[in-house]
Amino acid sequence: MATATREHWSSRRGFVLAAIGSAVGLGNMWRFSYLAAENGGAAFVVFYLGVTLCVGIPVLLAELVLGRGSQQSPIRALAHYGGAAWRPLGVVFVAAGFLILSYYSVIAGWTLRYGLVALAQGFPADVADRFGDVATGWDAFGFHVLFMGITIGIVAVGVKGGIERTALVLMPTLFVIVVGLAIYASTLPGAGEGYSYYLAADVSKLLHWSVVKDAAGQAFFSLSLGMGAMLTFASYLQRDEHLPNATLTIAFADVAVAFVAGLVVFPLIFALGLEERVGASTVGALFITMPQAFAEMGAVGRVVGTLFFAALVVGALTSAISLLEVVVSSAIDGLGWTRAQATLAAGAAITLLGVPSAWNTDVLGVIDQIANNLFLLGGGLALSIFVGWVMQDPIAEAASGTEGIRWFPLWRWLLRTAVPLFLALVLFYAVPETTAAIAGLFSSAP
Ligand code: PHE
Repeated sequence: MATATREHWSSRRGFVLAAIGSAVGLGNMWRFSYLAAENGGAAFVVFYLGVTLCVGIPVLLAELVLGRGSQQSPIRALAHYGGAAWRPLGVVFVAAGFLILSYYSVIAGWTLRYGLVALAQGFPADVADRFGDVATGWDAFGFHVLFMGITIGIVAVGVKGGIERTALVLMPTLFVIVVGLAIYASTLPGAGEGYSYYLAADVSKLLHWSVVKDAAGQAFFSLSLGMGAMLTFASYLQRDEHLPNATLTIAFADVAVAFVAGLVVFPLIFALGLEERVGASTVGALFITMPQAFAEMGAVGRVVGTLFFAALVVGALTSAISLLEVVVSSAIDGLGWTRAQATLAAGAAITLLGVPSAWNTDVLGVIDQIANNLFLLGGGLALSIFVGWVMQDPIAEAASGTEGIRWFPLWRWLLRTAVPLFLALVLFYAVPETTAAIAGLFSSAP
């Protein structure tokens, strides 16, 4: 039986850092800053915090409860508590892992390349104009393959020796770099303008529905929710872990890194007068403006740029590991494959699936929307209904390892009512938008 031989984390710290590693990634540094720029700064930040607190945290705890309680990968965990009828939802989670990692790794490849360029020679003055070359075609594909290779190498080693060890070393490094960069950014002339753009609410945007929708999508993406990544990591936990504490620690660290990353990006952009470029915010904004800023900073830019992209690569890597692990653990549990077989096969398939994203950033952007708007938000809706209504006594399962927590009944109530209602409402608007984006992609194709 899978449970008897199941791998486990060697320490609590290892699990929490690996889960934070999953949460903290391109979402915090790339997606968060471009969405904040697009959606009126603080207005977006406020909604994002609200959704994280009221919706993200309950769903995160739900995933941890399902994973730890069942000691199984997503498909089996759902069947364990809900019967075979729930297996298809698990299959959707695995599909989401495939889809998200396929383009996530392409973007991670851009960051890997920029990190190496900064380290080796510094950014050339015309770096902004060359983004198209970096972001597409064989260049993008090559770095996507390289990044997938590293991810596959780590996941193949296993939960303790690969995933946990990587997180124990890399996550503290990432925190130090990001905080250091924020301190450095605060000393730049023009930092103040960057802060006020970032943190002053554009009240006209506060009432925009699209801000709420983007904030919801971002909260789910950033916390790695709605596709079983957190569930899978929790399935390697012993039953004495204090899940509410772990939930709050993971959520806090995730929000903190996103917030501090904004304190790096906005001052830098304003110090170098590049704000117009961010206004025309797209998927590539960060990858156009930041290297340009580093190029203009000369020798300092080389150091700062190397650190900035190193932090992005580290964040992306620990997140990619968790995405791949969803697929790998499902193949190990469900198909009886060895870890090496599962990792290689899944990794190779995902690498191929990334080809369209590597050749076309519009395709990448639309897949990102599909992943977020449909898979993660839809997955979150299904998970909240599952734990709120289908699972017997989720509170007892959550309480294992704790003395019982006063807000557990509130948690269950949220999962039964407010969370699914909110997510259904968001989906109601997000689905047509996503289908329109897909249609747009086909109609604009040559
Ligand atoms: N949370 C990761 C990030 O912010 C992305 C991710 C999403 C990872 C879903 C796993 C699952 O970059």
